[in-house]
Amino acid sequence: MTAEEITDIEMRLLMDGVYHVYGYDFREYAESSLRRRLNSWLVSSPFANLSEAQARILREPAMFVSLLKGITVNVSEMFRDPAFFRTLREQVIPHLKTYPFIKIWHAGCATGEEVYSMSILLHEEGLQGRYRIYATDINKDVLKKAQDGIYPLQEMQRFTKNYQQAGGNSSFSDYYTARYDHAILHPELREEVMFSDHNLATDAGFGEMNMILCRNVMIYFQQSLKDRVVTLFDSCLAPGGFLCLGTKETLERRPQSSHYELIAPRMQIFRKLYGK
Ligand SMILES: C[S@@+](CC[C@H](N)C(=O)[O-])C[C@H]1O[C@@H](n2cnc3c(N)ncnc32)[C@H](O)[C@@H]1O
Repeated sequence: MTAEEITDIEMRLLMDGVYHVYGYDFREYAESSLRRRLNSWLVSSPFANLSEAQARILREPAMFVSLLKGITVNVSEMFRDPAFFRTLREQVIPHLKTYPFIKIWHAGCATGEEVYSMSILLHEEGLQGRYRIYATDINKDVLKKAQDGIYPLQEMQRFTKNYQQAGGNSSFSDYYTARYDHAILHPELREEVMFSDHNLATDAGFGEMNMILCRNVMIYFQQSLKDRVVTLFDSCLAPGGFLCLGTKETLERRPQSSHYELIAPRMQIFRKLYGK
């Protein structure tokens, strides 16, 4: 079934309504990707057009949850961009090891693969018991999956390859138990992780982090929202802390860029200067 084309005014009215009724602010998301996501949600819905859907979305929380799932892109993988994790291991972890305790925020953690990759890395580097990870996302369904730490077994081959390319020095299968067609990650990998619901567009940050990762999230935001989120991260990062953006993101031309040194240009890893 095809849906009728979404007009600009329909999109704006729906996003305003969603903000006022549910407090979720998608008004500064990048228009083209938001329109694409809304369109595919609409095609799989019983509605002919967005105006028809609007009344139900604003009146029925379950319909809004369905829309929220449709709007957010939750794809992730373990050791995604292996070179990024290799750089963390080689250039960032040696600094973190000098701290008595490390606080890390994964903003937009989706189903948790990135968080568990970080836990594995920290365990392999002997930092077990010396870190706390705050793993957050706007979508409660994906957070539940993240908390469970159960992934399709068929993904393990790809994840193992990523792990090895990222400089992993054990056997990746040591980190999970295979049960039927699932891989259950070992619970000690989440002992030092707190998963929670957090919206980068509207919520306050967590204080004094030593590292913030926000990869493949801000690509869906308009410039104005990216600026606000970078300001939020800047206010939450301790001096000497690391800010890791996705390979498609940069701090360039942002007012905060003078607070940072770019330590891994291809990986967009920045270190906050002392005194900033
Ligand atoms: C493509 S995933 C990225 C997952 C992981 N960081 C990675 O790189 O593999 C993007 C995630 O950002 C989340 N997200 C989108 N808007 C958000 C917001 N305003 N606040 C917090 N998370 C958000 C989505 O729900 C989704 O799970």
